[in-house]
Formats: sequence, structure tokens, C-alpha cells
Amino acid sequence: MLPKGASREAVLPLLDDLGGLRPGTSDEVRQRSGVPAADVYGVGTFYSLLREPEAGVRVCQGLSCQLHGCEDLKADLDAAGVANTWASCLGRCDVAPASWDPDAEEPPVTTHLSPDDPDLPLNLSGRDAESYDALRRVRREGPEWLLGELETSGLSGRGGAGFPAHIKWRAIRNQEETERYVVLNADEGEPGTFKDREVMLRRPHLVIEGLAIAAEVLEARDVYLYTRGEFRRAVHAMERAVEEAKTRGDLDDELRWHFVEGHGAYICGEETALLESLEGKRGMPRMKPPFPVEKGFRGKPTLIQNVETIANMTAIVLRGGQWWKDLGATQPGTKLYCMSGHVNKPGVYEAPMGTSMAELLELAGGVDGTLKAFSPGGASSGYLPASKVDVTMDFKSLQEEGCMLGSAGVVVLNETVDMVEAALHQAIFFEYESCGQCSPCRIGTQIVRQTLERYLENRDPAALSHLDEVSWGMEQASICGLGQAASWPLTSAIKYFPGEFGRSA
Ligand SMILES: Cc1cc2nc3c(=O)[nH]c(=O)nc-3n(C[C@H](O)[C@H](O)[C@H](O)COP(=O)(O)O)c2cc1C
Ligand code: SF4
Repeated sequence: MLPKGASREAVLPLLDDLGGLRPGTSDEVRQRSGVPAADVYGVGTFYSLLREPEAGVRVCQGLSCQLHGCEDLKADLDAAGVANTWASCLGRCDVAPASWDPDAEEPPVTTHLSPDDPDLPLNLSGRDAESYDALRRVRREGPEWLLGELETSGLSGRGGAGFPAHIKWRAIRNQEETERYVVLNADEGEPGTFKDREVMLRRPHLVIEGLAIAAEVLEARDVYLYTRGEFRRAVHAMERAVEEAKTRGDLDDELRWHFVEGHGAYICGEETALLESLEGKRGMPRMKPPFPVEKGFRGKPTLIQNVETIANMTAIVLRGGQWWKDLGATQPGTKLYCMSGHVNKPGVYEAPMGTSMAELLELAGGVDGTLKAFSPGGASSGYLPASKVDVTMDFKSLQEEGCMLGSAGVVVLNETVDMVEAALHQAIFFEYESCGQCSPCRIGTQIVRQTLERYLENRDPAALSHLDEVSWGMEQASICGLGQAASWPLTSAIKYFPGEFGRSA
């Protein structure tokens, strides 16, 4: 129990204002929030950007950055005497090897995009929609009309799970509780993924209009935008968009906008960990059910939606659910595919949902070298071999292949890549980012990493002998998707490249 009058929600913003955990800050936060200092310290140490405020430049060690020489970049910084540390992922796989200095102005990223085409709902190369006609139309037609269009569209979540949006929206409208929240998940931490960054930078009004539509339909008065701490430019773009829309009278004056920056914890992208973080706690996923639509932020019904998902609302409202649905090749709509690793034009490509991997490679300027393997949907999705290049990149087809589309962070590997090393990079990521709350994940991720390191010592397959049991335990007994999928990069690499793991095909 907290002391009376204490504000836990104030803890993370205060720690942020004070520049992270330094001697004396826990006590200062205690004085200003009423939360005991030990509690403040415990929360602060969970978040890498608060835990190590003086670590200097962060060098990304995500898979794409590994493929493009992050070790050399770090060695150069060391040699030049520049303070630096590893970061799990910086969301800049398209400009690998990436680094980021929290104390300097964030440099702009120039990425490749699909060409300007007004028939693309997000059309990142086009002009931002600023009319707010979609919001006006929803006000005119009413919530039931909007929910009908949303259902017709078949829009499913673009954050990774692919859950139908209309089901969540209806579930919230059916709650008796009238205090409701809308939360934007802009934490984008999955290695290989950087699409939400581009949507927020290039189409901030689409994001703000989508959120305003959600608030209108769900009768919410507060919108929270939880954005990863490394994306300050994106936050400023959205703050500007809110101010512009307010000045023009497009937004309801009573709607409150809350911008919240993440602090460097990948797990806070998981929706219930994000809610814990918003409430000023360590970002540890909650057991589900209850789901956030019933008991979310502050225990109230909450819509949590990914940036790409919400940004599609304007096109669905203005051009119709059926129009949007028909854009898809195998499943509804278009999809933002992030292409990085060994491709000639890394970037964000909007294409019909279910575009084949071969076509995506063409969009991204072809493979730099010869295709060996690819990770279709972020670190959690595992690997597929070059022989699967014709697979259609949608939720269903990839699930049938035993992997997943996830956040569509596609990382391409050429013939020079050692699959054991590739699996090890992902294992290190998951071990570091596990919140540690449940033992199958906390211990399992350690075992997976140790197993690979042991195997690499002399490539003796005996080192891999207990892997199937460990992987099974992690999949079956972990609380959240991190632990459930953390062994997939290794198990898929063994499945498709048995020779590299000392096994016969
Ligand atoms: C380990 C883990 C990390 C996740 N990271 C993100 C993320 O960075 N961004 C995101 O939108 N969803 C992420 N998700 C999915 C969210 O939990 C949730 O499904 C999503 O925010 C719902 O929005 P959507 O339906 O629009 O996709 C993650 C899930 C897991 C298990
Ligand atoms: S699976 Fe891992 S990240 Fe998820 S709750 Fe358990 S320990 Fe935390």
C-alpha cells in the first residue's frame, strides 16, 4: 500500500525530469510523489534509459545492426574515448549500424518508402491528411455506423497479434463503466521494426485523427500516447499536429491529450506491461483475462491500438470498409513492411497484405548478395530459408509456416551469415529484455543463450541436447509473448539449417 496522497503515476515522469537515477534522485522523487524511495529506485532500475543516465552513446546491437558492423562502430567509439554502451534495439534498422546519443538532438533518418500513390491508405510519401473530414463524418453518422465499417474492413491489429479491431471497440462500448481510455501503442521495440516511427513523423494528423475517432466512438475523455523514448522527433510531430488541429477547431476541446515517453524497456510494447508503465510501475505484463477492454488503465475499459492500426481509420471512414478490405491480396488492407538487413534499399514499403517475400525483396532493391534466410516479423518470428521466398506475407500464411508476421519487421540474411550467430543475437536480446517475472522465460532465455555460446565453443551438438524440452516449457508456461516465442529463432534455425547445428537434415 502506498502512503495516503502518494502518486505512483508521477514517479516515471519525475525520474525523467531529474535525468534518471543518480545519487539522491530516488529521495527527491519520494518527496515530490510520496512514493517510498526504495520503491522509486526499484521502478527506475527496470528502465535502461533511467538506470544508466550517464552511459553515453547507445550503440544498437539488433540483428540488422549486427549484419552491418555494430561491433566496429562500438570499437571506433571506444578508441575515440566516447562514452558508450550497447542498446538492445534503437528502431533504426534501416540506417544500420545505428547509434543514438540521448543528450544530443536526434538526427533525422532518411529511409526508402513506397512511391506516392493516393490509393494507399497511409501513403507515407504523400501529403498528410489535415482535413479531419473523417472525424466529422463519424460525428454525423454515429458510432454504430463506424463499427459497421470497421467490421467490414477486416482491420486487424498491426502491432503484432493481428486481433480484429472492431471486436475490441465493441467490447469497450458494451462496458457499463463510463470512465474509458484510449491508448496509442507507439513503443515500437521489436528489432527489425521502424514503420510506426515513419507514420508518426510523416502522417501525424492521420494518427491524431484516428485516436480522436476512437475517443468519439468509445466516449473516452483521455488519450494517452506512449511513445518509445528514442523517438523524440515523432513525439514532437504528434504534439504539433494536436496543437494545429486544436487551433483550427478540429478537435473536441474537452478531449485531453497525454504524451508519455517510454524509457528503454522492450517489454513495455506488450499492452499490459505498457499499462503498468503508464501507472508508474515496472513494465511487467499482467495475467490475462481480464483484458484491457474490460480492466485496463487504472482498472477501467481501455482501447490499446498500434500506430499503424489507428492511422488506417481515416481511409476506412472516408473511402469505406469494403474499399479498404479489397486492397489486400490474401487478407484485408495494405501493410507496412519494414525491410532491412541485406537489402539494397532498406525502408518502409506499403503493399497489399499478403504480398510475397519475393515481391517485397524487389521493392527493397533486391538482396545484397544471395538470399540465405529471412526473419519475417521481428525477432520473435524466427527464421525461414530462401526456399520459402514465395510465401505470402500475411498473418495466416506465416502461421501455417510455423512462424508469424508479427510487426512485419523483415530482416534479410545473405549467404555470409552464420545461422548460429544469427540465433545467438536474438537470444541475447530476449534474455536482456525478459522482465524476469516468470521462471520459464527468465531461466529459459538464459539457457537458450548459454546453450548457443557453449555450442559455439567447439560446435559439439551435445550442447544442444536439452533444447527441445526447454523450448517447450517456455512456449507453454510463459506469461506473455516474449517468453513464448523467445526460443523460436533458435529452433527455426535448427529446423531449416540443421547442418550448421551439427545435425543431419
Ligand atoms: C513482447 C511483446 C512486445 C510487443 N511490442 C509491441 C510494440 O512495440 N508495439 C505494438 O503496437 N504492439 C506490441 N505488442 C503487441 C501488443 O501487446 C498489443 O497486441 C497491441 O498493442 C494491440 O494493438 P493492435 O491491435 O493495434 O496491434 C507486443 C506484444 C508482445 C508480446
Ligand atoms: S514471459 Fe518473460 S517478459 Fe513475459 S511476463 Fe514472463 S518473464 Fe516477463
